Amino acid sequence: MKKEYLIKQYKNTYQKSPTHIIRAPGRINLIGEHTDYNEGFVFPIAIDRYTNMLVSVNNDKKVQLFDLKYKESDEFDIDFIEHSKHLKWSNYQRGITKVLKDSGYKIRGMDVLIFVEVPESVGLSSSASVEIATLLAFKELYELNIHYMDIIKLSKKAENEFVGVECGIMDQFASLLSKEGHALFLDCRNLNYQYIPLSIQGYSFLICNSMVKRKLTESSYNKRRKECKYALRAFQKILPKIKSLRDISIDDFERYGSLLSERLKKRVKHVVYENERVIQSYRDLLQDNIESFGKLMYHSHQSLKELYEVSTEELDLLVQIGMNEPGVPGARLTGAGFGGCVIYLVKDSCVEQLKEKIFDVYQKRTGFTPQFYKVFPSSGAIVEKI
Ligand code: GLA
Repeated sequence: MKKEYLIKQYKNTYQKSPTHIIRAPGRINLIGEHTDYNEGFVFPIAIDRYTNMLVSVNNDKKVQLFDLKYKESDEFDIDFIEHSKHLKWSNYQRGITKVLKDSGYKIRGMDVLIFVEVPESVGLSSSASVEIATLLAFKELYELNIHYMDIIKLSKKAENEFVGVECGIMDQFASLLSKEGHALFLDCRNLNYQYIPLSIQGYSFLICNSMVKRKLTESSYNKRRKECKYALRAFQKILPKIKSLRDISIDDFERYGSLLSERLKKRVKHVVYENERVIQSYRDLLQDNIESFGKLMYHSHQSLKELYEVSTEELDLLVQIGMNEPGVPGARLTGAGFGGCVIYLVKDSCVEQLKEKIFDVYQKRTGFTPQFYKVFPSSGAIVEKI
């Protein structure tokens, strides 16, 4: 969305000019799913779809919000923040304001116009992009002295404690710290990260939205987290030194996995082997070994489907179509699962053919008209003074 247009909308709404515009991107995860909250590895890239937030201070203790897409407005008092039952989108801003206040940061009100381009509820992290944008807005307007790691951690805290999704740290990390043309290899235990140049010349990442909105995501997601906790406790009885599922080696798993219930065994197997796949992907991408990386994407999907059980028939069909088409070395669901999007690694010369095939087969079989987004690995959030 054009900046000039957004500024005009801001002026119409608040009868004054904004002082800053913040753009925080959504993300796709190339590989490493449901590993972040098990202190494992992830490999996201930010995408060129943003939450745009135009802001200026007000002399009040109120945050005023206008959402351009929904044409809805809201306001809340920063000293008295409750959940909004009707306007779910405003809970992200409420959550961020609350965690900042509770952490002792000195903030007052702001007037906000928000326009979220990141497709929502389809696994592309629109929520993290709103959280990061809101936090950066307060930081800029009130000159908060806040380290970038704390921006990430507080955003995650808002999602965990206020919104109620027990997410890991990947999405907020990717939205703030990604680098154009690179993937972000992140160790979710010590938060060390490395940028890996994505030299996949002749190939692109294509996102296909299955148009199945994630159902029961919050509760199913939180359920998976609990299962991991139970599995960890069981494993700690045998291997007392382990601190998270990340510490379980393939050998440990093969030796002791059968002591777990069938369900927990499947969850752990996914996490253990998925971490290995991320490390192998890191090596593959450093060596431009696209075919090998693509295979790992397919394996990851298989594991999410059969072991972690977060896929859907629609996502499986989309991945299957990729597997049967020429020029598609890899495909998998991205994000939490339970609906949402599939990412394809696809030869540029085969993109159109793949899309046609998907339109044809997917639409016929499911009745849904898929949406496509060709994405470019982008930089993390930026703040601009107007
Ligand atoms: C969601 C969460 C992330 C991560 C993924 C699954 O996107 O917000 O923290 O757990 O699911 O990999």
